[in-house]
Amino acid sequence: MDSGIISEIGEGILRLTLDRPEKKNALTRAMYTDLTIALGQAQADDAVRCVVLAAAGSDFCAGNDIADFAEGAAEFTSPDVDIETLPVFRFLKALTFFEKPLICALQGKAVGIGVTLLLHCDLVVAADDISLSLPFLKLGLIPEAGSTLLLPQRIGHARAFGWMALGEKIGAADALRLGLVNRVVGQGDLAAAAHEMAATAAALSPSSVRYTKGLMRDAESLWAVVREEGRIFRQQLNSPEARAAFAAFLSR
Ligand code: COA
Repeated sequence: MDSGIISEIGEGILRLTLDRPEKKNALTRAMYTDLTIALGQAQADDAVRCVVLAAAGSDFCAGNDIADFAEGAAEFTSPDVDIETLPVFRFLKALTFFEKPLICALQGKAVGIGVTLLLHCDLVVAADDISLSLPFLKLGLIPEAGSTLLLPQRIGHARAFGWMALGEKIGAADALRLGLVNRVVGQGDLAAAAHEMAATAAALSPSSVRYTKGLMRDAESLWAVVREEGRIFRQQLNSPEARAAFAAFLSR
């Protein structure tokens, strides 16, 4: 895929790698589109039993690509554009309704949607150098990807709010303690550990996995939250804090 997503399949495992390390794997509209297509194909193909999401380079993902976002801002904020037609929301919908095991291999820094997408993964293996940040409030925005529901559910309100409002960074030991990741390994062992988890998941009964995921999370309700966050996120892009933060990053 030209956008910076590598897609490889073998032994029933689809491995999707964010491959734009020079930009810390910041996600562009083209990358969201390719990820959406890949997840859609994975959902439909019985030969795919689980998906591993990984990233090239030292860091997992710097969140939304701010330059690409600025380029698409007019469409993103237009009241005439249905949120569900925007690449990032197509991707979030594919994640929300994905029925097969989704495994994440996480290393280095992860920011924004690079963190909130973890809340949609069924298993997360992390390298011991992770540093997770959620700068939405600092940027004058609101959290997305259903994280206003999923994060307090996962780690409790005070810890979720504190993480976002106080600009804390969560490292590997805290991520494990809080239940954000299943396992922490040395950086050199990350790919093998993710593969091992994926091989186990790929051997499970597809129907029992599908029913179990369906019962563990109500995708329709979650999607309603993602949409509502999106509506407010769009509005907040016009806040003076958001305008200033984006202008500052783009003029670095
Ligand atoms: N959008 C676009 N480009 C990004 C980016 C993003 N979100 N994050 C990083 N990059 C680019 C940088 O501009 C830089 O490009 P350049 O070499 O052409 O100047 C390159 O990636 C490396 O980033 P750099 O900041 O030098 O790396 P770092 O290791 O010092 O810091 C981050 C990494 C992720 C902590 C830092 O880049 C950052 O804070 N990025 C913005 C994160 C963000 O606010 N995301 C949006 C959340 S809603």
